[in-house]
Amino acid sequence: MNNKRRYSAAAVVLALFLCVPLHSVTLDGVVISTDRTSMVLQSRIGEPLYFSYYGMRLDEGEAEAVLSSGINSRMKALPSFGADMAQSVAMQVIHADGNPTLDLVVESLSEQTFDDGTLYCFTLVDRLYPFKVLVKYRTRSRSDIIEQWTEIVHTEPGPVDLLRFDSAFMPIRRGEVWASHIDGGSHGAEGNLVAEPLHDGILSVKGLEGNRNGHSSQAGMMFSLDGEPDELSGRTIGAALKWMGTFELRVDTDNSSYHRFFIGINPLGGPYRLDPGVTFETPGVLWTYSEEGVGGASRNYHHWALDGGMHGHDTPRDVLLNSWEPLRFETTQQNMFRLIDEVAQIGGELFVMDDGWFGDKYPRNGSSSSLGDWVVDRRKLPGGLGPLIERCTRKGVKFGIWIEPESVNTVSELFEKHPDWVLEAKGREPNYGRGGNQLILDMSNPEVQDHVFGVVDRLMTENPSIAYFKWDCNCSIRNYGSRYLPPDRQTNLYVDYQRGLVRTLERIRAKYPDVVMQACGGGGARISMGALPYFDEFWVSDNTDGLHRLFTQWSISYFIPVAAMAQHVGVQPAMDGRTIPIKYRFDVAMTGRLGLELLPYKMTDSEKSYARRTIAQYKEIRDIIQFGDQYRILSPYGNDIATMLFSGASKERAVFFAFKVHNWNNQPVPRLRMAGLDPDRLYRVHELSTMDGARTLDIEGEVFSGALLMHTGLELDLGKEYGSRVLELTAL
Ligand code: DGJ
Repeated sequence: MNNKRRYSAAAVVLALFLCVPLHSVTLDGVVISTDRTSMVLQSRIGEPLYFSYYGMRLDEGEAEAVLSSGINSRMKALPSFGADMAQSVAMQVIHADGNPTLDLVVESLSEQTFDDGTLYCFTLVDRLYPFKVLVKYRTRSRSDIIEQWTEIVHTEPGPVDLLRFDSAFMPIRRGEVWASHIDGGSHGAEGNLVAEPLHDGILSVKGLEGNRNGHSSQAGMMFSLDGEPDELSGRTIGAALKWMGTFELRVDTDNSSYHRFFIGINPLGGPYRLDPGVTFETPGVLWTYSEEGVGGASRNYHHWALDGGMHGHDTPRDVLLNSWEPLRFETTQQNMFRLIDEVAQIGGELFVMDDGWFGDKYPRNGSSSSLGDWVVDRRKLPGGLGPLIERCTRKGVKFGIWIEPESVNTVSELFEKHPDWVLEAKGREPNYGRGGNQLILDMSNPEVQDHVFGVVDRLMTENPSIAYFKWDCNCSIRNYGSRYLPPDRQTNLYVDYQRGLVRTLERIRAKYPDVVMQACGGGGARISMGALPYFDEFWVSDNTDGLHRLFTQWSISYFIPVAAMAQHVGVQPAMDGRTIPIKYRFDVAMTGRLGLELLPYKMTDSEKSYARRTIAQYKEIRDIIQFGDQYRILSPYGNDIATMLFSGASKERAVFFAFKVHNWNNQPVPRLRMAGLDPDRLYRVHELSTMDGARTLDIEGEVFSGALLMHTGLELDLGKEYGSRVLELTAL
């Protein structure tokens, strides 16, 4: 390293630590730090931006050592087609004059400080064209999250086609690197967790639906740098995309020393045509780094969400009852009244009327009509919503309602009036979704955005005490084409759909910040970090089988905090045909936002009194579950027993869950170790969620040190098939 570079690196590192503006300095090393992590970039005016390092937090001296040592990857932060040939790239464009090459160099760097972090903006410009890419990094210090995205803008004489526009690229040094990702799932089997060692070739995780991420995959990945992923230890890098539409995460490994990781929108719909002067913003990538394993990386994501990243981040979640599983489309006033009374009796706080309540000319008695006609079906609900809301108020519960506003059935008054509002592949026969005639509305069209906003706005204006919307989306985009977008902008559709959706959600949130909204995607097809700023929670899966849910919920919590995971005790048998005792189902549901989807009046007296007692107990511990730290300990994947623990910030209270995953006679049960406790405190054990007359634990009321609970663990009798235990731990 020559003297000039050494000087400039030190000056910039120092300047950044002191938060001095850097606009006109000759730039070299830039250290982007959170409380416990650092990322280092190398940036000199007129040269490409280089990525150097991501990992543990560095002090000034170490940062300089990294830059001058072999730890420095010296790979471009945003490789592009034209400058970086014969390799995978993050960006590829065709300029207005047809030149298909891009070669970006640093023009300037600025920074802005906020109370919870800093925003760094590197402006890159093409060496030949007036084409800029602003590469931005926003730190969230407390949660150890660095959000990275780009803003693309040009002043060329005509539109530029963006062929590939990843939000970020990161080289990851080869070694014992494993990738964990959620992939290969389906409806009723969402959240399939895959953990595999990285190998030569390409690993790709993708979402291909355009309007939602889909049942199969999540736009997130974790890299375990020390071999097979461990929940509690090991260096882990996480990446998650804040986007609800198509996505692609690629790890490209050839015969070099780095795995090359790209993450961004999947350009499946064709090039994005970008007009001069318009800024194209790619979705943020949430990077995190932890030395506490995949669990530590998850806790960083949870902290980010609970620290303001998600809507309703500090509001306790109500215990609700939803009418779908028990009643399907039979949403008559009598049925609704009965459920409202019953949910109030067992201690629920919110009643949600699901699908089936709407349609005038075409009543919604099945899935093949009425989407779009958001007026009450007076045949089922003669008094409208008023009497239901009144009944709820009288019984002390809130009222919520189901909608699917981005969709339409061809059998509907909306479709009769606005056939031009649906997405269609020009000249081709439509490909229909659910019910044989469901289509998706064109959210790129501002009139459709107004309509969707109006669905919520009208319901809220007429019934201001609606407290909750379940916003469903049961159909992917099956017809690619927009009547709104001009012919030479058709390939912008997937992106413009999302922009329209987000604009609409922002409008709704500006006017109705307090209404709770659940994102549902015909099950779990809308679970994404991109939905979190607008939605309070997700419907995790239509499969409410307690055992299957244990796996699904485990995986979804890799990125999503459990406060945002709707976990319901459903009717039996579940969709997979299995019947599981009520306690196990409750215990699994209590590890997130507890809800019910059953008919309490069909429960036995003993089940009902168990439910009432357990709901009351859940309300006492929900602050720890919903806002505490989640420690996944023993995974249901590959183990006979699964365990997890939630602890409050001060570690004064914690809740431990243990579940049998498999069962056989004379089954050995290991000591169950805990995590996330204070080793120096003493904790009293109290069992929750017990059935009347069930055998209580020998250790009820006993006191153990946090150290013993974590290092030695407890020997617990988990009972026979579907055995489970919930222990509350209170520090003395
Ligand atoms: C799919 C959802 O996942 C279900 O919970 C339910 O709301 C139905 N749609 C209603 O049609």
